Amino acid sequence: MASLARRPVPQTQAPKRTRSRVQTEARAAKRAEPAPIVKWAGGKSKLAGELLARAPAEYARYFEPFVGGGALFFRLAPKAAVLGDNNPDLIQMYRAVARDVEGVLRRLRLHRQRHDEAYFYKVRQAWNAGEHKAASERAAAFIYLNKTCYNGLWRVNSRGHFNVPVGRYVDPAIYEPTALRAASRVLRSAELKTRAFAESVSPAGPGDLVYFDPPYHPLTETANFTSYTSASFGERDQRELAEVARDLHDRGCYVMISNSDAPLIRRLYKGFRIEQVMCARAINSVGKKRGQVSELIITNHR
Ligand SMILES: C[S@@+](CC[C@H](N)C(=O)[O-])C[C@H]1O[C@@H](n2cnc3c(N)ncnc32)[C@H](O)[C@@H]1O
Repeated sequence: MASLARRPVPQTQAPKRTRSRVQTEARAAKRAEPAPIVKWAGGKSKLAGELLARAPAEYARYFEPFVGGGALFFRLAPKAAVLGDNNPDLIQMYRAVARDVEGVLRRLRLHRQRHDEAYFYKVRQAWNAGEHKAASERAAAFIYLNKTCYNGLWRVNSRGHFNVPVGRYVDPAIYEPTALRAASRVLRSAELKTRAFAESVSPAGPGDLVYFDPPYHPLTETANFTSYTSASFGERDQRELAEVARDLHDRGCYVMISNSDAPLIRRLYKGFRIEQVMCARAINSVGKKRGQVSELIITNHR
């Protein structure tokens, strides 16, 4: 996929005020609940309630082959899960958080203390040069860059280099120790795989719940999807995914899919239960065009 052109940070833009670090920590400390560790394009935090309402009350294992930021996974906190994504840096970050959360926290503390624009670019350069060797060091750099970059968008160029400029946040909430430890606990009961989606679900069987949240099919030709990695997800992939979903249905799995409300998607899932939901779009290539969009939640149960 052609990578998105590098978009400079508008110089006139006022520093962004997000919830302050102190407020975020106070809120999270009250609830030792797992929460997404990174911001992710297409993240489902805002749709999680709608998805939860459609998940079966009981299921065996939970599979999420396009895990991204894992908004639904962290809300469900399943006892056994298989998580996949074709982004190796993301999966390695989850593995490091599962295995050595204290090591990741130690390094994140240093990033937070040192954070400013010059430091961001230093870490970005070191990341692209592969200088972060230890797993926990790499994971902390990934989280730090994700939480301080422009729009929280993990975007790479055709050489796989992370190329997002620094964001203009005041005191960004890079991490919250209680929530990260809770995320680590739930990640420990998951198998984590850098895989194409079809491979991640090959062991799924009767009673397992599979949630697919692929890159959305564009509503128009120009609404090209954002690049999470240097690979793309086109119409052929959407068709393959629909076939995999039908196969999982035949194998006795619960299947849930989110996607755009595009005619192709409605056609591909004929026979499934297709519900339209309105959702606030979190990351849009045209910053001012944020608003409610119609999306689909597709299930094979209820
Ligand atoms: C819409 S995002 C998932 C967002 C996630 N549900 C969340 O809440 O953050 C889609 C994810 O699919 C991954 N992906 C793209 N193509 C893939 C493929 N062929 N196989 C597996 N993962 C893929 C991307 O790296 C991205 O993380």
